[in-house]
Amino acid sequence: MVRTSVTTAVATLSLVFGETVRLNVARAPPASSSPPISLDFQSFSIETAFLVDFQGNKSHPNRFTNNLLANLRAFNGDVPQILRIGGNTQDHVTYVPDQKEQIIDFWDPSYNSDQPRNSSVGPSFWEAFTAIEGTKYIVGLNFYKNDSTYLENLRGQVSESLKQIPSDRLHLFEIGNENDYGALSGFRPPTWTQQDWVEEWIERARHIQTRDKSLRFYAPSACCYNITTPYSFFSPWTIWNSTFGYDRDGWIAEVSQHGYVSGTSQNPTLQVLSDEGAGTLMNHTSVVINGTVHQSLCKLHHDAGRIYTLGETNSVSGQGAFGVSNVFGSALFIVDYELYYASFGVNRMHMHQGTGYRYGAWLPIAQNGTGPSTNPPYYGHVMVSKFIGSHPKTKINNIDLNSDFYSAYAAYENGRLARIVILNLHEWSPASSAGAEAVKVPTTTFTISTGDRGIEYATVELMTAPGALSETNITVAGLSYDYHLAEGKPVRVAKQYESVLRPNRKGDITVQVRHSQAVLLTFK
Ligand SMILES: *[C@@H]1O[C@H](CO)[C@@H](O)[C@H](O)[C@H]1NC(C)=O
Ligand SMILES: *[C@@H]1O[C@H](CO)[C@@H](O)[C@H](O)[C@H]1NC(C)=O
Ligand SMILES: *[C@@H]1O[C@H](CO)[C@@H](O)[C@H](O)[C@H]1NC(C)=O
Ligand SMILES: *[C@@H]1O[C@H](CO)[C@@H](O)[C@H](O)[C@H]1NC(C)=O
Ligand SMILES: *[C@@H]1O[C@H](CO)[C@@H](O)[C@H](O)[C@H]1NC(C)=O
Ligand SMILES: *[C@@H]1O[C@H](CO)[C@@H](O)[C@H](O)[C@H]1NC(C)=O
Ligand SMILES: *[C@@H]1O[C@H](CO)[C@@H](O)[C@H](O)[C@H]1NC(C)=O
Ligand SMILES: *[C@@H]1O[C@H](CO)[C@@H](O)[C@H](O)[C@H]1NC(C)=O
Ligand SMILES: *[C@@H]1O[C@H](CO)[C@@H](O)[C@H](O)[C@H]1NC(C)=O
Repeated sequence: MVRTSVTTAVATLSLVFGETVRLNVARAPPASSSPPISLDFQSFSIETAFLVDFQGNKSHPNRFTNNLLANLRAFNGDVPQILRIGGNTQDHVTYVPDQKEQIIDFWDPSYNSDQPRNSSVGPSFWEAFTAIEGTKYIVGLNFYKNDSTYLENLRGQVSESLKQIPSDRLHLFEIGNENDYGALSGFRPPTWTQQDWVEEWIERARHIQTRDKSLRFYAPSACCYNITTPYSFFSPWTIWNSTFGYDRDGWIAEVSQHGYVSGTSQNPTLQVLSDEGAGTLMNHTSVVINGTVHQSLCKLHHDAGRIYTLGETNSVSGQGAFGVSNVFGSALFIVDYELYYASFGVNRMHMHQGTGYRYGAWLPIAQNGTGPSTNPPYYGHVMVSKFIGSHPKTKINNIDLNSDFYSAYAAYENGRLARIVILNLHEWSPASSAGAEAVKVPTTTFTISTGDRGIEYATVELMTAPGALSETNITVAGLSYDYHLAEGKPVRVAKQYESVLRPNRKGDITVQVRHSQAVLLTFK
């Protein structure tokens, strides 16, 4: 067991009691609850060009990535996460059958400093898929390539995948990333239409389909919600119209839509509204508003009997923003964001990752003298996994507190209240001048009324950090997952239970939650 000064630092805090908030929580799942949550709900997406950084190869597997994913899975009955390997770089990959290196990236700073302009991969690239254990894959293929070898290239990518990824770990294939943007990005002529997109997609799918018609696809992976160009309208709603015949072959198994709640150009913040009035992560109202488009798409697809997922998502598009996506506030955001989407029925969330991305949950390798490192968003993922638990039919309900700053969710197992997570999203950081003096931390009191006489007690576990801007010293239930302690395996640095609470005579339970902190109550 490793002890750090996290606990001693906390001991000097004194709580300043502020508001009181009342939560009425139904003891059985209300009508607004989600359908049963899949235990692979919290999945990931890894940028193609960085797969080798994240996972390594047969002789040098990335044990850190393996540990971090195994930790999360362990909370969810060891059900495999589904890793979608794709993103912008997927449409810039060339398969080179006689290349010895796994991947050769062509960096061009005038193009982008976060991603290579293009990459070539050899057969050993596919070693990365099996270098880590317990995951399944959606393999992203190149759609944009349109020279004389594009079909050969696709066939090469597919045949290496079928040869090197065991069939029980190969979930689906994805042909192209965010191609609704093709006419605007210049990878297709400006005259390109949504019907052209569909026809090209069908041509590629038919070309790679196996003789026994066993390949299934993940589509359309649209970036946006509706793009109007002078020649066409690209929309994740209308592409399913009978006019386009998008799924005429019946091979599309799951729907993927991308989404970010803000972009680097919108000057996102944790809480303070920027001039553009957008991009606040620690704001439940904003999470709910941004969810409306996905609620609409989720309903469209569920009504048609299709699985609906966010195939690539995170906080701030453009790989995240410093001081926003890479600090503890974004861990609070991850919990609010993922659980809100779970509550209205999204089947899976694939949080996008890349080497050095500001919103990355971990940096898998050393780069520019930093890393590997576990980053703040990872702790949000831990909290989400703990909250979902391992019961195969947990239902989640958003407890509407009608507040920008407070958010809460209930988890029901076997029709009975099992857990509540409460987020206090007020942005708070200790004053740097506090020195040795006691730090006064504003705190909100939550009174939970369940009317459930059967509850004996509730254990309280924290997701906590010195403040919303902390990049380190973060724990969930007293555990640190930092790289330097045990290569990402959990290490106890503080007590597990903050307290054990018993209901009063009316059956109410009262819990204090600091600003910029989350608590998990488990009912016994
Ligand atoms: C496997 O990874 C190691 C470490 O990055 C590298 O030195 C080695 O060349 C790789 N093997 C293959 C087959 O690419
Ligand atoms: C990558 O782009 C460079 C510059 O345009 C080009 O010379 C090279 O052939 C490209 N490589 C691949 C694999 O596409
Ligand atoms: C082929 O791709 C290039 C970009 O790589 C693009 O400029 C061109 O318009 C494309 N042509 C067609 C016919 O889609
Ligand atoms: C996008 O367009 C479709 C079809 O016209 C429409 O039903 C949908 O509401 C639009 N959504 C947004 C967010 O603009
Ligand atoms: C498909 O979408 C377009 C664009 O919104 C619309 O004009 C058309 O009526 C729709 N067709 C069908 C068959 O729903
Ligand atoms: C999210 O909501 C904010 C307003 O809170 C808005 O400015 C922003 O455009 C929304 N983003 C998306 C992707 O809907
Ligand atoms: C939270 O977001 C909503 C919707 O964008 C906005 O109206 C509200 O002012 C925001 N609250 C704060 C405290 O910034
Ligand atoms: C390392 O430096 C490059 C070039 O400035 C940058 O793109 C990348 O994000 C940096 N990586 C990290 C982990 O800071
Ligand atoms: C963070 O933890 C380190 C030891 O791991 C300790 O030295 C430091 O004081 C802590 N910082 C805060 C703000 O708690």
